[in-house]
Amino acid sequence: MRKKFVAGNWKMHTTRQTAISLAQELVTAIGQETAVDVAICPPFPYLLPVREVLSESCIALGAQNVHPEPQGAFTGEVSPVMLRDCGCHWVIVGHSERRRGLGESHEFIRRKLLAAVQHGLQVILCIGETKSERDAGQTLTIVRAQLEDSLPALKAEQLAHVVLAYEPVWAIGTGVNATPEQAQEVHAWVRAWLGAHFGSKLAETLRILYGGSVNSANAASLLAQPDIDGVLVGGASLKASEFLAIIQAAKC
Ligand code: PGA
Repeated sequence: MRKKFVAGNWKMHTTRQTAISLAQELVTAIGQETAVDVAICPPFPYLLPVREVLSESCIALGAQNVHPEPQGAFTGEVSPVMLRDCGCHWVIVGHSERRRGLGESHEFIRRKLLAAVQHGLQVILCIGETKSERDAGQTLTIVRAQLEDSLPALKAEQLAHVVLAYEPVWAIGTGVNATPEQAQEVHAWVRAWLGAHFGSKLAETLRILYGGSVNSANAASLLAQPDIDGVLVGGASLKASEFLAIIQAAKC
């Protein structure tokens, strides 16, 4: 039985004060909730103040990005060692806003994934196709390439530190979510791919989240799908009531 996982990706939003307030609202409402795994990923500058707020709760702290090197002359970058030092448990790797928006290559994403896991972080690895790729019938080809270019870099035991997030690019921030059936189709295919490459035990235990315009109105129907093990939430994670309603939907 895979435990449901709800992660909030705050992207480049909040101020120090609103980040703290949002985290406080979540802690007050779900501080010791254990039926669902919950993580929030604030912007880098707010990791430490948010960690303070989360310290007595079971909400985990995550970062939105990481550099593959542990230290060095990489202006503006943040290493996996630093993220651990700041109390991060999770990190998002391969988000389309970095793959497509900032030109991150498959190779760079693979290096980030490997470095993050080697330094003890849990990784949310994002995959997903664009609208034109879907319209051209290439969804599974794109998803397969993203999986093949990243996961085989890990040893079997390292894969236990990875959660996948299927995030169709056309659904991110658009208000147009994939239907539960569209998402389930890809999730089931990904699980079968995992089984073929890493064995049925891993395929049965590795969690696959859905992301892309998830909100309190559509979360329950997405989470009811057999291969959807949680959600990665952007916009709706910035409002405590919305995010809490999504967590509630994951409990059912
Ligand atoms: P959204 O973003 O929920 O705002 O669509 C999801 C994501 O980018 O992870």
